[in-house]
Amino acid sequence: MSFTLVRRAVPRVNRSELAVPGSQARMLEKAAASGADVIFLDLEDSVAPDDKAQARKNIIDALQNLDFGSAAVSVRINGLDTHYMYRDVVDILEQGGERLDMIMIPKVGTPSDVYAVDMMVTQIETAIGRKKKIGFELIIETALGMQNVEAIAAASPRNESLHFGVADYAASTNARMTVIGGPSPDYVVLTDPLPDGSRSSHWGDMWHYAISRMVVAARANGLRPVDGPFGDIQDADGYRAQARRAAALGCEGKWAIHPSQIALANDAYNPPAKEVDRAKRILKAMKEAAAEGKGAVTLDGRMIDAASVRQAEVMVAKAKLIAANTKAAQAAVPKLADQRKAASR
Ligand code: GLV
Ligand code: MG
Repeated sequence: MSFTLVRRAVPRVNRSELAVPGSQARMLEKAAASGADVIFLDLEDSVAPDDKAQARKNIIDALQNLDFGSAAVSVRINGLDTHYMYRDVVDILEQGGERLDMIMIPKVGTPSDVYAVDMMVTQIETAIGRKKKIGFELIIETALGMQNVEAIAAASPRNESLHFGVADYAASTNARMTVIGGPSPDYVVLTDPLPDGSRSSHWGDMWHYAISRMVVAARANGLRPVDGPFGDIQDADGYRAQARRAAALGCEGKWAIHPSQIALANDAYNPPAKEVDRAKRILKAMKEAAAEGKGAVTLDGRMIDAASVRQAEVMVAKAKLIAANTKAAQAAVPKLADQRKAASR
């Protein structure tokens, strides 16, 4: 390991992150009872300009009165280039109470964007004597943000997670597409002709570079990398495939822009039981190897060594955190059930 140690952000389960427009009071109630790991209440792009003020009021009301169970709760503020953002921060923090866990900052372009919000949040927290320190979720969704992602990730001790905002990223980079996430039929490799003259095309993952780059910046700074939205809410298979691709690259979870995507995300980001079992067996085998003075042994016909131990430890720790979170979520169910009934009336 390097002599520089990576400080890990607050550990939270972040498999599913539900987006809810702050302008829709009924949806806020339903979201609270949705079972998502993280819920972000939106003041930005899903809220029309004329509804921004009412959305703030709805969110403050929700933070004060709804039972969000064990979910982590975040509010997405407007961008720093708008005249809404300062009031979002002031009103939500001054009036929202202690329930709020994080603020999500969209379209972060430079570390100074994070610094500016940190300065405001720090002043307000001190002025009102807030006990719980607000964390930051940062959306990387512009070319500028991606260019500066490493510095952004290191910009504040409040930083908890980086999110890939695929829709705005496509707009910012002029990627030729009008859908939110998923593959593009233009991003294919056409193979050279085989001896029989046949050719085939293979779809590529056009988001691979962006997500990988964000994952590295996040992990190098102890943050959670989270994959953003997938717009086709009818396409569960497409969502699942995207979620699993991002999980394979190191992401911790994915946004759900519709409640039906929550279970898909939770499922895709649960470490499979078979892999957790293998991880536990690796730890056991390596403990026995160490007792015999060996550094590497074979398990199931494959070589394992100290790096395998580190991989296995990550997986077992994640499974433990998810199990503890599931227990806490189950304990919160009775209260949520009442709320769900009230929300559906
Ligand atoms: C999310 O905000 C996105 O732009 O994809
Ligand atoms: Mg966006």
